[in-house]
Amino acid sequence: MSENSTPSPKEIADQLKKRVIGQTEALQEMSIALSKKLAGLSVGNLLMIGSSGTGKTTVMRAVEGYLAARPHLALRSTVVRMHANVLGEEAVKGHSGEAVLRRLLDRAREQLGPETGVETLLSQAQNGIVFVDEVDKIRSHISGEPHTTGIRAQEALLTLIENEAVPFTLPAWAGGKMLTVDSSGILFVCGGAFEGLYDSVFDRVTVGKDRGALKPVTTVEDGMVTEKLVFQLRDWLKSEDLFDYGMSPQFLSRFDAVVLLADLTVDELIRIFLETPDSGYQQARSFFESRGMHLVLSPDAVRRVATEAARENRLGARALKEVFRRVIRHFEFDPKPNGPDGSLLLDLQEVEEALRPG
Ligand SMILES: Nc1ncnc2c1ncn2[C@@H]1O[C@H](COP(=O)(O)OP(=O)(O)O)[C@@H](O)[C@H]1O
Ligand SMILES: [Mg+2]
Repeated sequence: MSENSTPSPKEIADQLKKRVIGQTEALQEMSIALSKKLAGLSVGNLLMIGSSGTGKTTVMRAVEGYLAARPHLALRSTVVRMHANVLGEEAVKGHSGEAVLRRLLDRAREQLGPETGVETLLSQAQNGIVFVDEVDKIRSHISGEPHTTGIRAQEALLTLIENEAVPFTLPAWAGGKMLTVDSSGILFVCGGAFEGLYDSVFDRVTVGKDRGALKPVTTVEDGMVTEKLVFQLRDWLKSEDLFDYGMSPQFLSRFDAVVLLADLTVDELIRIFLETPDSGYQQARSFFESRGMHLVLSPDAVRRVATEAARENRLGARALKEVFRRVIRHFEFDPKPNGPDGSLLLDLQEVEEALRPG
């Protein structure tokens, strides 16, 4: 591809897939947004909602990694990633949206070099991408009480999103002057787990305001007729549920797309376990290699780890590490090969033994 052409959404997604397993819809939306952004077009902001450990932060990091590996693209759009909490703290101190712009400007300076003119740096910052992680932490109320940091942080973001005239004081290194900047070209991608949202929407459509909306489906299993409620958040989530959660209507209206990340399947967990570079499995392999040993897990052993992890659905893929620690701890403590050529072979039996309670 030539330096001047813009990668298509599909080309971008194919690269992001090397880091993110599953989550096809989120990768599609993200790739479309990024492709448009890199082409200099205007792009709607994106909100990603998904349970903890389903890959929200991983998607953001994959985009950062994608750009970092392609300097000619990275120069077209400066990226910063921040925790919504930090934004909340800054908002309370009164810096509001300025802190975000400052970060973009600093990052642009790192990218383009300190000798670059302020005008150039500003235009770079005004076309940046801002990832706001854990955006659910800036809800406007928590258990019925107003949450000031959250309210202020949402307001701070509102001053930036789609705003053509944001008052901004340049940092000292840039002269400290006050000016107005157009931040409407910044792409915001926010992500959060919104814990409790699933339950509150389920309640709304079963016993709450819209009681009876979710109808039981009749299934026949082993000759028995049973009625089941099949609930998927994506089928029922409405803007009001997010307002009730504590995201203000004004704030939400700034997002063109809300993407729900799916809970990971056992097969996806297996792929995350085997293929991602920082997985517990890869870390253990490196450890055994450093001791001159080769770790081999049978497919049944791997599936057993993933199945156990899938049971802890509040942790998502993070459960893989925790489960695998329990399995591998004992072998790492006193590494002894049990197979040919210094290999350590773990089969279903070893995993079962390690996971047995007590
Ligand atoms: N879809 C995924 N693809 C690849 N790795 C994932 C995925 N989801 C989670 N992980 C792994 O699980 C861990 C937690 O994922 P993370 O993206 O931080 O979750 P969260 O959705 O809570 O931000 C990371 O180590 C990451 O490598
Ligand atoms: Mg995260």
